[in-house]
Amino acid sequence: MTKLNFIKIGGSVITDKSVPFSLNEPAIDSLTDQIKVIVQAYPYEAMLLGTGAGSFGHFLAHELPHTKKGLYKTSDALKIHQSVEVLNSHVAKMLSSKGASVIGLPAASFAHFRGGKLIVTADHLHSLLVPGTIVLIYGDMVPASKHSWRVLSTEPMMLGLAEQLSQHFSLNRCILASNVDGVLDDTGHTIKRITQAGKIAHYEQSGYDVSGGMAQKLTYALKLSEHFERASIISGIHTDALQKSFAGHSIGTIIGQ
Ligand SMILES: Nc1ncnc2c1ncn2[C@@H]1O[C@H](COP(=O)(O)OP(=O)(O)O)[C@@H](O)[C@H]1O
Ligand SMILES: [Mg+2]
Repeated sequence: MTKLNFIKIGGSVITDKSVPFSLNEPAIDSLTDQIKVIVQAYPYEAMLLGTGAGSFGHFLAHELPHTKKGLYKTSDALKIHQSVEVLNSHVAKMLSSKGASVIGLPAASFAHFRGGKLIVTADHLHSLLVPGTIVLIYGDMVPASKHSWRVLSTEPMMLGLAEQLSQHFSLNRCILASNVDGVLDDTGHTIKRITQAGKIAHYEQSGYDVSGGMAQKLTYALKLSEHFERASIISGIHTDALQKSFAGHSIGTIIGQ
């Protein structure tokens, strides 16, 4: 079975979440460099790359009218979708300019909510995931009922995809890169390993966020770790953390057994 890796680069790294529509160009440059090197170093492994919505999607999702259940009308969902497309295509262009082969997919092409439950259909996606091609997904809007749309964050999207794709691939690395060194304890130190859900120290996030920050990320990382050989939450800021983590170094917080 072909090995498949998931990497998520958080919106907190590639944008400044406190400034609407702001790109963090040096971080995007460094991360795309590292991803290109990884893809070249592991030519027989497939790669799914996810990007967060950062100060593009989160800002608009926060500002535009929505119901208590987080439902948006189609015209507003389109505005959010278009904003995350800008961010995502910037990352895609950067990867492409460095010689990587990359294809971005809107979440509505493989996911929707039915009766509040996330449904993911990865049949066609599975054939796109060939070694050498990076399949790029991103926090986005997906249909929730006839005329309403919901935010689908990158982590739950990745979990839905992992559940489907585990039938076709051997799921290898799952690395979530954010703007902190990992999950921090209440003294600010990085926790080396987390194997089960529990309360974590709470640090205030700067900027716009509609997905629940680190607590939410950890919940999904624990579920993702059940499908992968190794899962971790690392820093996307340090210039070589992603490459080192991919190569098996103990970087950040290792998630699961
Ligand atoms: N215990 C914790 N450890 C690390 N980060 C935490 C913790 N509690 C809250 N946070 C906040 O979570 C943020 C990362 O989550 P988030 O902004 O959603 O990142 P991303 O955009 O990468 O998904 C950090 O910037 C930090 O402010
Ligand atoms: Mg987040």
